[in-house]
Amino acid sequence: MLLAMAGIDLSLLAGYQAELAEKAQMGQLRRCRELVWTPEAGPMAVRVSGRPAINFSSNDYLGWARHPRLQIGAIQAVEQYGTGSTASRLIGGTSPLVLALEAKVAAFKQAEAALVFNSGYQANVAILQAILGPEDYVFADRLNHASLIDGCLLSKARWARYRHLDLGHLAEKLSRTPANARKWVVTDSVFSMDGDYPDLEALVEVSERYGALVMVDEAHATGFFGHGGAGLCQQFGISDRVALQMGTFSKALGGSGAYVAGPRVLIDWLVNQARGFIYSTAQSPAVVGASLAALDLVQEEPVWRERLWHNVRTLERAVMAHGLEAWIPLPLKSPIVPVLIGDSAQTVAVSEALLTAGFFVQGIRPPTVPPKTARLRIALSAAHTDAQIESLCAALAGLLRAI
Ligand SMILES: Cc1ncc(COP(=O)(O)O)c(C=O)c1O
Repeated sequence: MLLAMAGIDLSLLAGYQAELAEKAQMGQLRRCRELVWTPEAGPMAVRVSGRPAINFSSNDYLGWARHPRLQIGAIQAVEQYGTGSTASRLIGGTSPLVLALEAKVAAFKQAEAALVFNSGYQANVAILQAILGPEDYVFADRLNHASLIDGCLLSKARWARYRHLDLGHLAEKLSRTPANARKWVVTDSVFSMDGDYPDLEALVEVSERYGALVMVDEAHATGFFGHGGAGLCQQFGISDRVALQMGTFSKALGGSGAYVAGPRVLIDWLVNQARGFIYSTAQSPAVVGASLAALDLVQEEPVWRERLWHNVRTLERAVMAHGLEAWIPLPLKSPIVPVLIGDSAQTVAVSEALLTAGFFVQGIRPPTVPPKTARLRIALSAAHTDAQIESLCAALAGLLRAI
C-alpha cells in the first residue's frame, strides 16, 4: 500500500510499487533488518530483528569492529580534528591525518604511493572510470564484485569477462586484442561470495605476456593474507608487478573507507581524473583515526590473523565430522565459506531456520550471485569460539539433510 504523502502524485510511484510486489512474489525482495551487537551475551553475539544469534554474517574477520585501539584512534582524531572534513581534498586541503594514513598504506602495500577513498565501492568505480577510456580494453573475472563491474561499465572501455579463475580463457581473450592497445586485467583477490582466489602469480604472468596492466581488489584479503596481513599480492610475491592494489578498511580492518596503492604516476593520475575522489568530501577524522590504529595493530599483533586461520581449520574439521562436504567443498581457502544450496527459496528457509536456532548466516541470492547458485555465506571471525563453529555445523547438518 502506498503511504499517503502530501505533495507527491502517488500514481507516479505505482510502477515501483508493482515491481517491488513482483520481487516479493518471486522471493527476491531485499529488506534491511535491524541488527544490534550484544557483547554482554558473548563473542559475536547479536540480536537480529530482536532474535538472539551468533553472527556469522559480518566481514569483521579479525573481530576489530569494536576493538579499543581503533575506538581510541577514532576518539583522539575527533578530539583533535573535529567530526567533519568540510570539503573535498582538492578544494578544502588535506588533513595531516590523511597524509599519514596514505604514507602508512604505501609502506604496508610496498608501493610508491597510495590514495584513500570514502568506500570500496566508490574507490573501484572512481579508479576504473579514471584509468580506462573508450579506446582501452579491460578484462574482468566473471564473478568480480559489483563495484568493479560498474566501474568497467561506466568507463565505456571495451570489456570482456573471462570465466571465473580461468586464466586460459583470459589469455585467449587477451590474445585477440590489438598489441598496441592499452589493456587492464581486473580481479578480486579473494572473491566475496565464493571465498576462492586466482593464482595471482599466473594471472600476472599471463597479463605481462600480452602487455596488460593488473588491478587487484584486496577487500577480502587485507589484514589476514600475506606477511603482516598485507594481502594476497604480498602472499604471492607479486606486489611490485601489480599496477594497482585496492583494498578496504571496512572489513578485517574494522573501520570504513578504502585505499589504492601503486606507482606515483597512477596515484597522481587518480588525483587528477578520479571523479569519485575529486567530487567527494574527504574521509571524516574519526574514520581516518580508526584506520591508522588498525594499520598499526595489524603489524603489531599477528595473533588475530592466526586465530582467524585456526577458526578456518576448525570449521573444516566440523564440516568433515558432520558430513557437509557436498554443500561446503573442502579445503577451505579463506574465512568466506559458501554453503551451496542452489534454490533461492530453500536458501532463505535454511537461513531463517538457522536464525531460529541462534545463528545469523545470511542467504545470498541472484542477482548478487549467478542464477541457480543461491547459497548461505558463512563469514568466520577471529572472535568466534571453537564451540560456536562446531554448533553451527551441527545445526546446519540437521537442516540440510531435511531438504
Ligand atoms: C570485493 C569487494 N570490493 C569492494 C567492496 C566495496 O567496499 P565497501 O563496502 O567499502 O564499499 C566490497 C564489499 O563491500 C567487496 O566485496
